[in-house]
Amino acid sequence: MAEKVLVLGPCGQVGTELVENLQKLYGSQNVIASDIRKSEQDVFQRSSFEILDVMDKSRIGDVFTKHKPTLVYHLAAMLSATAEAKPKLAWSLNMDGMFNVFDACLEHGVKRVFWPSSIAVFGPTSPKLNTPQTTVLEPNTIYGISKLAGERYCEYYFRRYGLDVRSIRYPGLIGWKSLPGGGTTDYAVEIFHQALDSNSYTSFLKPATSLPMMHMEDAVRATIEVTNAPSEQIKIRSSYNISGCSFDPASLAEEISKYLPGFTMDYAPDHRQQIAESWPQSIDDKEARADWAWQPKYDTQALVINMLENLRRLKST
Ligand code: SER
Repeated sequence: MAEKVLVLGPCGQVGTELVENLQKLYGSQNVIASDIRKSEQDVFQRSSFEILDVMDKSRIGDVFTKHKPTLVYHLAAMLSATAEAKPKLAWSLNMDGMFNVFDACLEHGVKRVFWPSSIAVFGPTSPKLNTPQTTVLEPNTIYGISKLAGERYCEYYFRRYGLDVRSIRYPGLIGWKSLPGGGTTDYAVEIFHQALDSNSYTSFLKPATSLPMMHMEDAVRATIEVTNAPSEQIKIRSSYNISGCSFDPASLAEEISKYLPGFTMDYAPDHRQQIAESWPQSIDDKEARADWAWQPKYDTQALVINMLENLRRLKST
C-alpha cells in the first residue's frame, strides 16, 4: 500500500530536510506537513500544509480524518535551552503533544510513528565516554526529563497497544539547509555561518566542551532507516543511541581554520555550558549498527568540508 506520510512540526531544523527526503521517497502529493505556522521555504510549497498546534487534540483529529495518514513523524518539541527558560510550557508541549499524536494514531489506525529522543536523556551520572544504550539515566534538564519520559511512553505504547513507535536519540545536528532553534548544540551550526560572514565566532560553550554531533544528512537517513526497518529488527522500543562524530568548540575551530585561514574564535560561555556539561561526550551505538545496520557517513573533517562548501555556495547566490 502506498504510504501517506504526515509530518508534525516540520518547520524546524530536522523537518525541513526530512520533508524534502520524504517527498523524494513517497512523492510530494503523499506527504502532508503541519506546523503552528507555515514556513516560506520551497520544500513546504510542494506538499499539502495544515496549520496545527499539537496541543490541540481535536484539530489533530480533523487533520487525521482529512488526510488519512499511514505513517506519522512527530517532531514538534521545545529544545533544551528554550525549555530551561519555559519549563512548564516545555513539559506540556513535549508530553501532551506526544500523547495527543500517539492517541490519534491509535484512534485512526496509524500503525507506525517516528518520535525523536535526544542525548539529553543522559545526565551528570551517566558515563561520559562511549555512553552505552542502557545505563544510568538521570537527566537534570526539563528537556532531558521530557525525552526520558517520552522514551518510556514509546515502549509502553508499543507493548500495551501495539503502536509501532520508532525512535533515535539525536546528538547535536549540523546542516546547511536549516537553522536550529533553542538548543545547546546550536553553536556548531552558527559557527559556520559566522566563519563565512566575518571569519570569526564567539562560542557560548567553553573550548574543551566535547559533545556528540552528526551531519543532518546522516540524521535524516537514520530517521528514515529506523522507521522503515522491518518491525522484528527493532529490538529497542524506547529509543536507539546513534553516533556520528564528537568534537569540542576548539577542535571545530581548528578544523575550520584549515579552510578559512585567519579564522578566530572567542569564548563567552553562558547558561548553556551547564547543560552541555551534563551530557555525554561520545555515544556507543552498537545496538543500532547491529539491529538495523546503522552506519554514519560523516566524520568531523567531512562534515566541516561539506558545511563550508554548501554555505559558501548559498551565500554567493
Ligand atoms: N540539539 C539538542 C539540543 O541542544 C539536543 O537534542 O537541545
